[in-house]
Amino acid sequence: MRPRMTDPNRSLLTLRGLDAGTLTSLLDRTESLLPVVRGVAQLPRTDSGAVVGLLFLENSTRTRCSFETAVHRLGHQPVVLTGQGSSVGKGESLSDTAANIAAMGMQALVVRTPLSGGAALVARVTGVPTINAGDGRHEHPTQGLLDASTLRSHLGSLKGKRILIVGDILNSRVARSNIHALTTLGATVVLVGPPPLVPWVFAECAPQIEVAHDLDAVLETADAIMMLRIQLERSAGKSVASDYRAAFGMTSTRASRLPEGVPVLHPGPINRGVELDDEVAADLARCLVLEQVARGVSARMAVLERGLVPALST
Ligand code: NCD
Repeated sequence: MRPRMTDPNRSLLTLRGLDAGTLTSLLDRTESLLPVVRGVAQLPRTDSGAVVGLLFLENSTRTRCSFETAVHRLGHQPVVLTGQGSSVGKGESLSDTAANIAAMGMQALVVRTPLSGGAALVARVTGVPTINAGDGRHEHPTQGLLDASTLRSHLGSLKGKRILIVGDILNSRVARSNIHALTTLGATVVLVGPPPLVPWVFAECAPQIEVAHDLDAVLETADAIMMLRIQLERSAGKSVASDYRAAFGMTSTRASRLPEGVPVLHPGPINRGVELDDEVAADLARCLVLEQVARGVSARMAVLERGLVPALST
């Protein structure tokens, strides 16, 4: 079956190259849909008849459940396929899996895969609007949007703000999507971590990117700090010394050096006692992880709307 041609603007495969206007309108829509997520507003009841295929071929808690919630909230139906229990376990390829699910008549696909570039492959093979829910080390665009939304709600405009991203930058799709979004919105991003996980070459990529290997030296320059998990499943553990927490963790002592309005973010799952101390995670005025999760649903609603509305009206 030949894939149908689809408008590339209905897919979201990367935040790279999205201009500030497009990002801002997605963030504005994320904000306006947030009351629906919080249960204080409702969208008109609709059953759109659209079916969205969620292909989650790598472990996920937040991203999968929030995409599923977003699909329901918009009045569409989700069909969820996870790696475990599917024919992926029999060796079926990503493109065959996606082509078969698309042939069931999906109006959009959401893809999480260990394969960097896998979401673009699915879009190409199926011709169906495709949203990247994390592809290997490459990108996690909806995480970038929900993080930018959380930061914007706490800091106002991101122009001129210094955002520290701390941890395993090399293997992090979250870092990559955030770098694109935050620099496009005018922030400076400081990438912090041990040299094997934060090579100097990142600083060569753009004038708004800095690299630091000493967290304590840059801690107090931050307007916000995003902590990342070491991606053990991508072999990052081999590059990490046993004193990682002492050097790069957000310990209670470090958090106490931050001015009151400087938030700490984390995409989850948190390794407590490694990148975040329990006391920091429990300080909900400082640590915005649950705010990020709430905004994750409305950000995904905004992205799904963009992917689905033209499909439904034609
Ligand atoms: C992130 C991911 O899967 O890339 N988690 C998430 O989507 N909330 C970060 C991580 O797993 O460390």
